[in-house]
Amino acid sequence: MGVGWWRLIGAALAGMLFFHGFCSSEKAPNYTFMKQATSAPYISYYDYIIIGGGTAGCPLAATLSQNYSVLLLERGGSPYGNPNITDLGAFGAALSDLSPKSPSQRFISEDGVINARARVLGGGSCLNAGFYTRASTDYVKEVGWDGRLVNESYGWVEKLVAFEPPMKQWQTAVRDGLVEVGVVPNNGFTYDHMYGTKVGGTIFDADGHRHTAADLLEYANPSGLTVLLHANVHKILFRIKGKARPLAHGVNFRDASGIKHKAYLKIGSGNEIIVSAGALGSPQLMMLSGVGPAEHLKAHNITVVLDQPMVGQRMSDNPMNAIFIPSPLPVEVSLIQVVGITHFGSYIEAASGANFAGGSQSDKKDFGMFSPQTGQLSTVPPKQRTPEAIAKAVETMSSLDEAAFKGGFILEKVMGPISTGHLELRSRNPSENPSVTFNYFKEPQDLQRCVEGIKIIEKVIDSTSFSKFKYDYLSVPTLMNMTASSPVNLLPRHDNSSTSLEQYCKDTVMTIWHYHGGCQVGSVVDHDHKVLGVDALRIIDGSTFNYSPGTNPQATVMMLGRYMGVKILSERLASDEPK
Ligand SMILES: Cc1cc2nc3c(=O)[nH]c(=O)nc-3n(C[C@H](O)[C@H](O)[C@H](O)COP(=O)(O)OP(=O)(O)OC[C@H]3O[C@@H](n4cnc5c(N)ncnc54)[C@H](O)[C@@H]3O)c2cc1C
Ligand SMILES: *[C@@H]1O[C@H](CO)[C@@H](O)[C@H](O)[C@H]1NC(C)=O
Ligand SMILES: *[C@@H]1O[C@H](CO)[C@@H](O)[C@H](O)[C@H]1NC(C)=O
Ligand SMILES: *[C@@H]1O[C@H](CO)[C@@H](O)[C@H](O)[C@H]1NC(C)=O
Ligand SMILES: *[C@@H]1O[C@H](CO)[C@@H](O)[C@H](O)[C@H]1NC(C)=O
Ligand SMILES: *[C@@H]1O[C@H](CO)[C@@H](O)[C@H](O)[C@H]1NC(C)=O
Ligand SMILES: *[C@@H]1O[C@H](CO)[C@@H](O)[C@H](O)[C@H]1NC(C)=O
Ligand SMILES: *[C@@H]1O[C@H](CO)[C@@H](O)[C@H](O)[C@H]1NC(C)=O
Repeated sequence: MGVGWWRLIGAALAGMLFFHGFCSSEKAPNYTFMKQATSAPYISYYDYIIIGGGTAGCPLAATLSQNYSVLLLERGGSPYGNPNITDLGAFGAALSDLSPKSPSQRFISEDGVINARARVLGGGSCLNAGFYTRASTDYVKEVGWDGRLVNESYGWVEKLVAFEPPMKQWQTAVRDGLVEVGVVPNNGFTYDHMYGTKVGGTIFDADGHRHTAADLLEYANPSGLTVLLHANVHKILFRIKGKARPLAHGVNFRDASGIKHKAYLKIGSGNEIIVSAGALGSPQLMMLSGVGPAEHLKAHNITVVLDQPMVGQRMSDNPMNAIFIPSPLPVEVSLIQVVGITHFGSYIEAASGANFAGGSQSDKKDFGMFSPQTGQLSTVPPKQRTPEAIAKAVETMSSLDEAAFKGGFILEKVMGPISTGHLELRSRNPSENPSVTFNYFKEPQDLQRCVEGIKIIEKVIDSTSFSKFKYDYLSVPTLMNMTASSPVNLLPRHDNSSTSLEQYCKDTVMTIWHYHGGCQVGSVVDHDHKVLGVDALRIIDGSTFNYSPGTNPQATVMMLGRYMGVKILSERLASDEPK
């Protein structure tokens, strides 16, 4: 094997999801309520002000607009008409785009893992791999949600944005392999969470076009909703009178020209500000507004409204580890379609890569999920990842043999996880990423779940069902050595990176972008998502999760936006009982 395997893998990874065939024909819907923040008045008044037009914020705003005036403030732009968002084949493009206008904002956790957060209307649902799958009924019970309303809310979401994926040869082989090695029963296609192997839903339709949380705004009452794009919220404003609880009553935001605007709640009991800025944005904005650990806020010269030491605590990211398997046969391009739900707390999923399209497609420089541009797993060692080095790697990949691009990943994600970390401000600038630590594998149980998950992947690779997509002469240890030899993130490599499963988990850990926490139910908000210790303020998004729901969270994040919207309405309108 004269060719450096790391180079071939990098090239193969780079070729993943890079293919032709889909074009952007999605038209912007007729959203008369969607405007640039530059057109907003200096001061305005609403019944509800929602901060963050993301995966939870959009369904929430659509629902509340039925009966109240709602302002939805989103720091990013519109997802419509941008092929980097709407086309399945462009998965890596948005994540690779590091410009200030990009719909994704890269961050690197203190753990050294490269990660991304959304900056666009529709939030993470505009960037993600599309897998759509519900939380288990046990999860719903443990959280204390109303199961009937949960099911109705999932249905409301699914009607507009969830589809059955096309099952082609490679994904089918992974599914059959999982069943063959005992991840049973085979549950067929279902949104439901149950032990065994299943085909889940996707937010990509049959033409490979993405449907996002922003599409849920089609449910809105246009006369009850204002959506402002490029509206960056700097602060939640509180009224503090004597010893009474601080009352949230307005927000400061800046438009794309840097002009400052204020929006206030109309006078009326029950009117509220709702933070849906995501697991990084929500704890960050709470701190910038004076609700957080007092000493930390004082160190940044922020006036303390409420000393709340739990804001920014218990941040978690589910570790993901993968093995790359080059294929002798051509494979379809697929994002996640199949999942094996094991009894030991890890989920097995898979994505397959393109046969390098070449030609005019190479001008697009879109090399997919694991390209040198997205950073997680690449051919350029982390410390040398200068723009020039990355450009050179891209060029090298473009000229590599087509064979290098056949193959796919089987990955495992650790449930939970149990390990947690924390988030801190770096500055008072809301556009600058806070510093985040996830402490991957700090708890031994998370590491054990990873090891067990990798063992299942090994068996699937060696299964009869999968055999035609694997070279006979590449044994599992060789495949692992190939993956471990390719630089992953900013993590150190050891001699035993591929010989010890524990070390493999630690050295090749990536994110599957399901990070959550920071404003958890029970410590920062109550069961109705009301912020403890202040009035007229809720938080509704992934920052409130104690545990990531389902095998992948987006279905439940969208469901939660709808669910809480219906609950809030029914609390206020006795005549508006959920059907
Ligand atoms: C690359 C990637 C792949 C993924 N793959 C999958 C998958 O296949 N399946 C799955 O189920 N899940 C997947 N996920 C996870 C899922 O998409 C997220 O968990 C979910 O989108 C989080 O929703 P949220 O509402 O909590 O936050 P977000 O959707 O991030 O929404 C927060 C919004 O708030 C805005 N905001 C933040 N701060 C401010 C401010 N100060 N002012 C104004 N606006 C602000 C942001 O711009 C953003 O639009 C993936 C995520 C990523 C990034
Ligand atoms: C968009 O909606 C507005 C108001 O609801 C309507 O007047 C207009 O005709 C619509 N335009 C299109 C192209 O459907
Ligand atoms: C709330 O909105 C719904 C849908 O627009 C409507 O049917 C209902 O009558 C409204 N309720 C009240 C009390 O306004
Ligand atoms: C798509 O992403 C690429 C980088 O990956 C970027 O150069 C290009 O400008 C983006 N296109 C749009 C429409 O944002
Ligand atoms: C919700 O739907 C699931 C199937 O998707 C079902 O198992 C469960 O019983 C339903 N819950 C309620 C309360 O209806
Ligand atoms: C806080 O204010 C003090 C006094 O004005 C100043 O010296 C210090 O640099 C400020 N710290 C920050 C983080 O802004
Ligand atoms: C792993 O690959 C490297 C080259 O990348 C090689 O030096 C090493 O011997 C291999 N180890 C095993 C255990 O195969
Ligand atoms: C792998 O080797 C390193 C030293 O290179 C050692 O510290 C570590 O404990 C080893 N890991 C395992 C799981 O044995």
